[in-house]
Amino acid sequence: MSSHITKAVIPAAGLGTRFLPATKAMPKEMLPVVDKPAIQYVVEEAVRNGLTDVLMITGRNKNALENHFDNAPELESALRQKGDSSRLASVEQSTDLADMHYVRQGEPRGLGHAVLRSKMHVGNESFAVLLGDDLIDERDNILGPMIAAHDAHHASVVALMEVPRDMTDHYGIATIDDIGEGDVVRIVDLVEKPDPKDAPSNLAVIGRYVLRPEIYGILENTEPGKGNEIQLTDALRHMATNNIAGGVLGIVFRGRRYDTGDKLDYIKAIVRLALQRPDLGPALENWLDDEAHRRP
Ligand code: G1P
Repeated sequence: MSSHITKAVIPAAGLGTRFLPATKAMPKEMLPVVDKPAIQYVVEEAVRNGLTDVLMITGRNKNALENHFDNAPELESALRQKGDSSRLASVEQSTDLADMHYVRQGEPRGLGHAVLRSKMHVGNESFAVLLGDDLIDERDNILGPMIAAHDAHHASVVALMEVPRDMTDHYGIATIDDIGEGDVVRIVDLVEKPDPKDAPSNLAVIGRYVLRPEIYGILENTEPGKGNEIQLTDALRHMATNNIAGGVLGIVFRGRRYDTGDKLDYIKAIVRLALQRPDLGPALENWLDDEAHRRP
């Protein structure tokens, strides 16, 4: 049986300060990874998993996002006149990808607040949240197994990944219980960005969530936490520790993930993905080899 989940929520209201000055006048989600904006990979991942109704939570200076997923009549007719059908297809692809919706966050009050802004659109259904900074390699699906776990257990599900101990203060960190289902585990506690010395584990929440609608009522009553922001992690902690609406499960992801919000990882993502491309890979590989041997 296929899942009833069809809606994806993508928070995209952040200021992108880590990439200034590139993001002074352009949303960070539009930074190219090879030749597609980072956000398009995320929308494509949602669509591949049956989530064709996409709501982006945006803010000021994010018009380029809406334009990217809309028709570009002048560009399209210029390409058509030139007979450049492959570029035309690449332009049209992002227009036809999904049923796109947008709502502005208004005040930047944290990820939990951004997710709460989707309540009117999503209503009383389970939905997925995909964070634009996390890029999951197309060959390593995590959202599909998360949706399957949600459907089997009628519970919310987060994606987990082991991170180096000294990185725990970048992530929500989980305490888990084994339920005898391999990589599917029960979340018994969650803490947002703990200091490495206080972290209960090195299992980090990465930016994929499948949430039951009960999360909204919890978010409405979640006080600002870390960084004085309303944290999705705190709402999920409440759901997990009080076993609300089936509690919270986690799936440990062991595939390839890139944090395009981090400069070095962003560059690695570009190199990895370009290496796989028949038009770029061989030449790039040769060049990387030459560069490596040139090192003193
Ligand atoms: C957010 C969440 C954090 C999660 C992370 C995944 O943090 O608050 O719990 O681990 O995304 O990328 P952010 O990266 O937005 O600061």
